Amino acid sequence: MPRLLRLLPLALALATACRDDADDDGCDGPDCGATDGGSAADSDGASAADGEGSADSDGGGGNDGRALPCDVQDVIDRHCTSCHDAEPIFGAPMSLWRVDDWKVPAISDPAASVAAVAAERIVDPVRPMPASGPMPAEDLAVLQAWIDAGTPSDDAACGGNEPTPDPVGPEALPCEPTVEFVAGEADAPFHVPAEGADNLYQCFTFASPVGATTQATAWAPIVDDERVLHHWILFRTATPQTDGGSGPCNMPQDAAFVAGWAPGGGNYELPDDVGLELGGTDVWFILQVHYHNVAHHPDAYDRSGVALCTVEDPREHTAGIVTLGTLGIAIPPGAVGHEAEGMCPSWITSYLTEPLHAIASFPHMHQLGRKFRTEVLRGGEDGPADVLVDVPAFNFENQTYYPNDPEVLIQPGDALRTTCTWDNPGDTTVHIGEATEDEMCFNFVMVWPIEAVGQARQCGLL
Ligand code: HEC
Repeated sequence: MPRLLRLLPLALALATACRDDADDDGCDGPDCGATDGGSAADSDGASAADGEGSADSDGGGGNDGRALPCDVQDVIDRHCTSCHDAEPIFGAPMSLWRVDDWKVPAISDPAASVAAVAAERIVDPVRPMPASGPMPAEDLAVLQAWIDAGTPSDDAACGGNEPTPDPVGPEALPCEPTVEFVAGEADAPFHVPAEGADNLYQCFTFASPVGATTQATAWAPIVDDERVLHHWILFRTATPQTDGGSGPCNMPQDAAFVAGWAPGGGNYELPDDVGLELGGTDVWFILQVHYHNVAHHPDAYDRSGVALCTVEDPREHTAGIVTLGTLGIAIPPGAVGHEAEGMCPSWITSYLTEPLHAIASFPHMHQLGRKFRTEVLRGGEDGPADVLVDVPAFNFENQTYYPNDPEVLIQPGDALRTTCTWDNPGDTTVHIGEATEDEMCFNFVMVWPIEAVGQARQCGLL
């Protein structure tokens, strides 16, 4: 079993524990489980909406047979249907598009309705829905009141209220992509198995396709089989890998973040005068893809990944990745809200030859991670704090990068404090380590000019 999957029983046990003590509103009544006998994922077949996604389906101003009260539809469209669409995507196991989708048995627990499971997941501190963190209180209240009332229908026309997302994908880049890393092996797409891929991490490895001086200037996610794709991270390593390899993820110690995408994330462009170093010819790339084939699609053949625009002539400024965080992790059994702090001290940053422009953060913890924060302490450890990145509801399932727009300047003499927060429901102390049952506390920060940092690209870890 891939090491990354070993903690899953724990996550599932937690979800079950939450379920037990919540009240079971949609499923004591006579319709429970009787709606269509099939799984919730089948319900899109009967949906009035087309398969193109909710953004197109709502344009007419009516509610397309969705039969949702308008205030509820508004909340669902802003927080849920980007994944739980009429045809669910990004690993979401079922649609939440129509009122009937809420009344069928939940896939994970056929004794409960989707609405009953949703009532728990929207307030679940460990596995919240949406996974990026709980909705604002007023939206939560609208949804809770509707579920408490037994998910009543309403046929009033609601009008299109979905935000138009920014275009995402290689076609929407301002440049022609030159390098691609995509899922698959020997030019064939990766077959995401119908069974056993409820929560699959698959790693695809590549010899460096880039030249000694090549820089990335922009990238876009390639979203191929959106039904099962959950997220991906592109890493770079000096540890040799099979070119064209595909297998479980055993990340080498030196794997460094290059790019990442999760649902909701878009294309990324560096500033016009900045290029991201890619490491030259003697490195390997690892594309780690997280799949959810909870609906057991038998025909999921995936070519998702990333397309990068590159330049051979380096741009004026070179960006690179600096690693912050701490290796000093010991989370006692039963801990709730246990914190560890890594300080990149002011005496080290005072060696910076010029200020650093921080343009994005990629926080990384494992399954027990709950919160993540990096602050810039102005003028030293006791100075006032500016936030570089703050993730109040960290979710291992939903890791992404956080661009700083506008960029944050780190001056020589500033200190950088990274704070990780974990819960440990297990009965042994958890330490730092690569395996998923171990923990991590890293922030991969994209900064320029990377030359100002010198050789030591890690700070404050010890
Ligand atoms: C970014 C994509 C995304 C968004 C947005 C999202 N979900 Fe999910 N949802 C998922 C994925 C992926 C899963 C399967 C993995 C899991 O259970 O965490 C899931 C699972 C669920 C489940 C569990 C189903 C079961 O049978 O156990 C419920 C309930 C749920 N979502 C409700 C919601 C609600 C309600 C919203 C909006 C308030 C929402 N989700 C927003 C992706 C999303």
